[in-house]
Amino acid sequence: MSVVGARPNFMKIAPVINAIENHNQTRSQDDNVLDHVLVHTGQHYDRQMSDSFFADLSLPQPDSFLGVGSGSHAAQTAEIMKRFEAVLLEQKPDVLIVAGDVNSTVACALVAAKISLDESGSRPLIAHVESGLRSFDRTMPEEVNRILTDHLSDFLFVTEESGLSNLANEGIAAEKVYFVGNTMIDSLMAYKDKADSSRILDQLQLKCPDTKGSYALLTLHRPSNVDDRSALLNILEGIDELRAECPVIFPAHPRTQKRIAEFKLEDYFIPAHLNQRVNSCGSARIRMTGPLGYIDFLCLMKNAAVVITDSGGIQEETTCLGVPCVTVRENTERPVTILSGTNVLAGVQSAGIREALRRQLGSTFRSGTIPEKWDGKTADRILKVLTAVGPNAALRAGG
Ligand code: UD1
Repeated sequence: MSVVGARPNFMKIAPVINAIENHNQTRSQDDNVLDHVLVHTGQHYDRQMSDSFFADLSLPQPDSFLGVGSGSHAAQTAEIMKRFEAVLLEQKPDVLIVAGDVNSTVACALVAAKISLDESGSRPLIAHVESGLRSFDRTMPEEVNRILTDHLSDFLFVTEESGLSNLANEGIAAEKVYFVGNTMIDSLMAYKDKADSSRILDQLQLKCPDTKGSYALLTLHRPSNVDDRSALLNILEGIDELRAECPVIFPAHPRTQKRIAEFKLEDYFIPAHLNQRVNSCGSARIRMTGPLGYIDFLCLMKNAAVVITDSGGIQEETTCLGVPCVTVRENTERPVTILSGTNVLAGVQSAGIREALRRQLGSTFRSGTIPEKWDGKTADRILKVLTAVGPNAALRAGG
């Protein structure tokens, strides 16, 4: 059984489901058929945040949709747990696969860790995809989710070397930990050529005269950056210089759109579809679209001069694409993107952001290297580990 809930889960789980389908189609007589059940918690629920990813990533429709929707952390997590318990009791999977660090991840892992599927108290084995990342900032809800999920898991699938030492430092047994690479990069590798067929550059009138490097791409959604007016304003001021030089495209997360309206910061933006002429002089405002589908966003990322973001996954994707990235945060749980990739940490103050942008667009930009095992084959490695466990694995976890 695998669980998806929020936007970043879809690209992390899709390669695992593909690997399962592949296994079933190409298996030898000695191999078992793998029955797979997909559960969608409904943490993200609308077309732009969820449905479009099922189409873009060719994900099968969920076997079970929990429809939890939004709420406070406690309410959302509790609702997922209540509804997920019934599915787990009915399906009794051998292995539960959760990914990343969202509320759906920790909620489902916690249910599975304490469930009793039969009189002997057996439970599914829990596999965490994207294990071991640490920002060491417990004010981030995602950091709490990561730590708890790792400590509940039986298989910890690590994306980068820092994860190995982080888990060892927390006393997690080495035999549970597997350095396999990054399934989000599996999706990137699988779809990056298809991104060239996207029409988004035309639609945003970014095609002429030379696409590559003629615009910047911005994403912001962390509560600490967008839920406070002065924090958000600081970031917008940090990109003033940049937007005087080139168009800045901003596919805004629903949370961020709501805050912009609430804080009356609309003057910084112009709806992308209304901006008939791309202005290359100082008066250009940030061109805001709604959230975009996976293929359109990949296309924009691939061709951008620079990406400015507070997302975790985008730091990794830009590293793989060799596109300069400026991360608008004080820390990152993905240090490999800075040590060997194309990412720089700018902090959240305007001066630091301006400085990082100058550096990333100037001669000091370092094109970076692709991190170890980010080769598009991570899901196969994960499946190899999980299939070695054999059938009726759930019974082994009991007691
Ligand atoms: C969640 C994840 C975060 C991830 C992000 C990606 C947690 C703790 N956070 O944050 O790690 O980076 O997703 O997007 O799990 N909304 C919609 N439509 C939707 C989904 C949400 O309008 O389909 C609105 C909600 O009403 C809410 C806001 O967006 O007001 C936030 O949604 P929520 O899932 O609570 O958290 P995210 O900020 O998206």
